[in-house]
Parts: sequence; structure tokens; C-alpha cells
Amino acid sequence: MRRTKKMVKTQRPTDGQFSTAPDGERFALPRPAQYATEMRRLRKLADKARAEGREIVVVMGVGFVGAVMAAIVADSVDRKGRPSKFVIGCQRPSTRSYWKIPLLNRGRAPVSAEDPEVDRMIARCVNDKKTLVATYNSDCLSLADCVVVDVQCDYLKTELGNMASGEADMAALEATMRTIGQKIPPKCLTLIETTVAPGTTEFVAWPIMKKAFAARGIRSEPLLAHSFERVMPGREYVSSIRDFWRVCAGCNAKARKRVEKFLREVLNTKDFPLTVMDRPIESETTKIVENSYRATILAFLNEWSLFAERNGVDLIKVIGAIGMRPTHSNIIFPGPGIGGYCLPKDGGLGYWAYRHILGFEDGESVFRITPTAIDINDTRGLHVAELVRDGLRNMGRYIAGAEVLICGASYRQDVGDTRYSGSELVVRKLTEMGAEARVHDPYVDHWYELEKQEEYPAVGQSWKRFFRNQAGLEDLRVGKDLKASLKGAEAVVLAVPHEAYLELKPEDVVKWAGGPLAVIDCFGILLDATIRRYFELGCEVKALGRGHIQRIKEEVRKGR
Ligand SMILES: NC(=O)c1ccc[n+]([C@@H]2O[C@H](COP(=O)([O-])OP(=O)(O)OC[C@H]3O[C@@H](n4cnc5c(N)ncnc54)[C@H](O)[C@@H]3O)[C@@H](O)[C@H]2O)c1
Repeated sequence: MRRTKKMVKTQRPTDGQFSTAPDGERFALPRPAQYATEMRRLRKLADKARAEGREIVVVMGVGFVGAVMAAIVADSVDRKGRPSKFVIGCQRPSTRSYWKIPLLNRGRAPVSAEDPEVDRMIARCVNDKKTLVATYNSDCLSLADCVVVDVQCDYLKTELGNMASGEADMAALEATMRTIGQKIPPKCLTLIETTVAPGTTEFVAWPIMKKAFAARGIRSEPLLAHSFERVMPGREYVSSIRDFWRVCAGCNAKARKRVEKFLREVLNTKDFPLTVMDRPIESETTKIVENSYRATILAFLNEWSLFAERNGVDLIKVIGAIGMRPTHSNIIFPGPGIGGYCLPKDGGLGYWAYRHILGFEDGESVFRITPTAIDINDTRGLHVAELVRDGLRNMGRYIAGAEVLICGASYRQDVGDTRYSGSELVVRKLTEMGAEARVHDPYVDHWYELEKQEEYPAVGQSWKRFFRNQAGLEDLRVGKDLKASLKGAEAVVLAVPHEAYLELKPEDVVKWAGGPLAVIDCFGILLDATIRRYFELGCEVKALGRGHIQRIKEEVRKGR
């Protein structure tokens, strides 16, 4: 590999440990000797900020949620319009995540999104207002007036389509709570934003912190609160955090008062009122129930989607018609999978907590809808591979060896987050069946779930283990030039409704592919006129939930 100037500057031949940013820039992990210097830097900055009347807020975990939340807090102002907080984003210096720190310190967002405000706000806070820095040194917790916890809490599944056999993985969260308890000043408020298994704040995190306080000889109770995130990365990334309704609760009255005050200072609670609950388990349960509800209404439509496909019904039009009723306006079409980090796991956290934190043994008989919904969502993508197979078959082709382009790797439109995307399941199943998969996505630079499938989402946790023939997927790279990606494709799967795919002209698709191909629509992207045109051009069209396509095909065949 050629060494660029930038790389020479940032690489240091230490112990050979590097963290690589998505654009390929490599950053040497900090050495032990650097920690003290880093802490001196932070102390100086915090002292200055405090002298200017600002509160010091440490955000633990600068991922999809923490990075943007840190910027929102850093951007907040007091009644006189002056910055009221100085924020330190703290990230563990792992090979996988360390790069986020130097990037943030340059004023660059470690997440990519359609919302231009993300980049602007981070640049403004780091470079102009100087209210945001990032560090790997968790000793910064000793400077905090408030700590916001945005690390992950996973739910690990052991089988595909059987949520109930999985378990919560709270290791990162527990380690973070321990470190916080060991380092924060006694009066510091700790706010858990992470989506957790109900009961975690009071029965797992608080005891960890109390134990750490006791070991330090601190007599007072830790001030611990919970307020979950409802962030929706995408076009409204920033406002989905700042201008959105929040729910919160504290472990005791003092923590409740403090969390209310903090949230009112950093979020737009004037227009989006805060709901304060009595106990954290109620706030935690709110998050789990609202995401289980969403997962359930999506899963519910899977069976009607199959019904529609087999009986000449266009489910997209059915949903449009139902949605006219205000009482049913939140009915939504499920794509090839209900990915994203949250919906596939949150119901599992609740199910698991019922037994393992709260001590009930009858989870199987009590929870019958949520696990089924998640299992349906987790496996819906498999049907897309069947549609590709059938589309190719109708053109006299076989799936084995077929060149199939998947348009969209992320879990939803206009974001770069690929975690648990339906597209991953589609690619894995197609690959198992012998297809040659390629991928295009305007928002995703690296599809790590495939490219680094031994490590993502964690060692031993890849969906790879549920399929055969997956080894070659490490070489799959995400294309950015749709024309080039389509060249020679025998089938194209419109897996995500990214803007770039909505207005595609059938003539162009066929021209770029080099001839007629099978087109598989997973999201009701194609208008009837577009479907008709594909047939007229000699293509085959298949779609999730759209049984009327057969009718259009017959009309074209009969020359109507
Ligand atoms: N992404 C979303 O759309 C979304 C929406 C609502 C809620 N949430 C919830 O927010 C939480 C965070 O999600 P995310 O998407 O930001 O995850 P993420 O994986 O992008 O970010 C978590 C970050 O925490 C870091 N981390 C882990 N252990 C740490 C430690 N000990 N010290 C410091 N940093 C540490 C990780 O390296 C990572 O950068 C989850 O509970 C998630 O369910 C996410």
C-alpha cells in the first residue's frame, strides 16, 4: 500500500496497534505514557471552562448516539445565550473505535448522516465555540458535574429466528458504570441514556456505583438517573434528539431533580415536554415497550405481505388506504428486515430482564407476541432471496452464479448505519445459494458486517454462522457509482429506499446493466408505470407484498 503524507504523520511505530477510520486513515493507539499528558490537557480545558461558568459534562461512548448528543449538549446556551456546558466525549481506545477521538478533535463527525447539521454542529462546537473535546482517558470523569452514558448494551442471539434463546450482553455497560463509580466526584449526576434491560439502572448499575463509592469511603448515594434516547439517524438526526419528547426518572428524589434540570437545559423541552416518571424501571420499560410495539406492527404485516403477493393485492396501496384513517395512520410497510441496532434487540432485553434481573420463571408463557414479532422481522429478508431466485428463473436463468446487485446496505433510507440491516440477510442468503452478490450504497463506505465478518458485530456473533458459503464476503466492497455497479448485473434488489433509487429510469437501469434483468423491489419503491416499463423492456419484476405485479405483467404480455 502506498503511504500518503497524512498516514506518515499519524502513524507511530509503537506496539503496532492502530485504529482505522472508515476513510482509511490510521491512528496509533495511545501509549500508557500519554495518559498523564492527556489528563493535564483536559484539566486545563475544564478549569478554564469552569472559570467561565460552564458545567463539565462527560459523555461516555461517542457512537451514533453519544457523538451527536455530546454536540447538542456542547451547543446549548444559557438564558443569556452563552454556552453553558463544556463537554468531554470519552471513548475507549480500542482498535475498532479509537479513531473517533482524533476525528472528533478535528471537528469531524464520527458518524455519517444525511442531516448536514451533524457536521456543522460538531465543527462549530469543537473549532469555534471550543465547548467540545474528545478523549480516551476515562480519568476525565473526575472533572465531571454530569456524566451521560451512551455505550451499547447488546442482546446476543444464538439462533436465527429464535430471539428467546439469546441473552443480554451488559459487559460494556457494567464496566462503564464501575469506572464511573470509581472516578466521579460524589455530587456528580450520572445519566444512563443507553437502552437497557428494565431494572438495570436500579438493580445493576446503582449497586455497582454504590460499591465503588463505598470502596472510596464516600457515604452519599450516587446520583443516578435514566432517560433513553429516541434518536433517529437520518435527515432529522439532530432534531430527533434535541427537539423531541423525552422521558426520565431518577433513582432518588435528588437524582430526579437533577436529571430534570439537566435535560431542560440542553433539550427543547419547552416545545417537547418532558415526562418525568417515578422510577427508572418505568422509563426503561417505556423504551422497551415502544420499540416492541414498533417491531410488532412491522412483523404483523409480514403475513399480509405474503397474502398480498399470492392474491394479486398491492400491499402498498392497502397501507395507503388504511393510513387515511387517523386512528391507523402509523401503519408501515416492512422492508426486507427490521434492522437498525434497536428494534431487533430491545424486546429481547425486556424478555431477558423479566427472568434474569426481575426473577420470574414464566417468561415463555407471558411473552408470546414480542419474541414472535422479532423472530419474524429477523427472517423476513430470506424471502427476498426467493424472489430473486424466482425472477431469474422466469428469465430462464439460475441463481447459482448470477450477478446480483443489492442497492442499499444500511437498515433504512438515507443513513449509513448497517447494523442488522435486512440487506445483510439478503446478501448472505443469496451467497449461500451461489449468487455473486455486489452492493451499492451512497451512505456506506465500509460494510463491516461483511468486510470484517469475524469481528462484527462482535467476535463469534456474525450472522455468517447461520449460513454456508460465506467466506468470500470479506472481499465485498460497497460501490458508489451506480452505473458501474450495475454493469453486467442479472438482477437488482432495491433493498433500501435511498433517494438515489427512487427516480431510477428503467431505460437507464437496463442500459447500464447491459440488457434486461430481474428487478426486485423490497420497499414499494416502484410505481405501477415503472413496473410496466420494466416488463416492456423485457425485464422481470418481483416485489415484497405486491401481488398486482402479475396483473401488470399479463397486461404487457397481451399488449394492453
Ligand atoms: N443508533 C440509534 O438509532 C439508537 C436510537 C435510540 C437508542 N439507541 C441506544 O443508544 C445506545 C448507544 O447506541 P449507539 O447506536 O450510539 O451505539 P454505538 O455502538 O454506535 O456507540 C457506543 C459507543 O460506546 C463506546 N464504548 C463502549 N464501551 C465503552 C467504555 N467502557 N467507555 C467509553 N466508551 C465505550 C463504543 O466504542 C461505541 O463507540 C444503545 O443502547 C442503543 O440501543 C440507539
